[in-house]
Amino acid sequence: VPTVKLTVDNRGNVGVTERRLDVFFLPMLVQSEALRGRSVVVIDVLRASSTIVTALHNGAAQVIPCGEIQDAEAMRFVLNDSGLLLGGERKGLKIEGFDLGNSPLEYSPNAVRGKTIVLATTNGTPAMNVCREAKAVWIGSFVNASAVLQRLTAQTQITLLCAGTNGEITGEDVLFAGCLIERLRQSDGDLRLNDQASMAQLAWRQTTQAIASGTRLADILADMHGGRNLVRAGLRSDIDYCATLDLIDTVPQLDVDAWSIPVP
Ligand code: MLT
Repeated sequence: VPTVKLTVDNRGNVGVTERRLDVFFLPMLVQSEALRGRSVVVIDVLRASSTIVTALHNGAAQVIPCGEIQDAEAMRFVLNDSGLLLGGERKGLKIEGFDLGNSPLEYSPNAVRGKTIVLATTNGTPAMNVCREAKAVWIGSFVNASAVLQRLTAQTQITLLCAGTNGEITGEDVLFAGCLIERLRQSDGDLRLNDQASMAQLAWRQTTQAIASGTRLADILADMHGGRNLVRAGLRSDIDYCATLDLIDTVPQLDVDAWSIPVP
């Protein structure tokens, strides 16, 4: 993959586009205009990204991301679809009156096949709001890491957007960003990074050393912000699932005009 891309405008002027990758540790660190024309991966490892990837892999017809509980409830009313499921969480737990929580393990083929899922999570689904100007918006997590990587190899302007937790940076999102960067840089050592991307790469390198000496990725994630919240809520098995690399080879993509993530 070349580091620079030659472009020709409609007057025949030749330009050079540098290949670059930016990470933002939190959605509030970037404006939607700055994402115009970029290929964005939204990352909420624990658990919104992992849940969306799993739901669509298991046959859900579409996932509609919502920020607010009321918006999700209004969507049920507006769409008037008897098969529609409301999913999501507050403080990690299923929202009262909703059909599903935010555990990827709940989104089994039996539960979701053919269904529209309106998903309202605290940080992951609201993070997508900043992506309305992007060229492409993919959903990534450790469970579909290699498939995401494949999408990114052809892109020149990449942004990895971490959801964080309630305005705080979460290590698990940063580590997944670092994991993608490390692998992208193996094929393109000149890929230009912003400082947050360099920091994510360093964090992942340190993690791979711990993994090489026998520590499990799931145990590392369990000791990070989002992981500790899940352990406290009795949801440790979700961390084990979300820390499994390459379980799924599909990459959901948000259609920003329809505001829906259809089956890939
Ligand atoms: C979120 O969107 O904040 C998360 O996915 C929280 C969770 O349910 O683990």
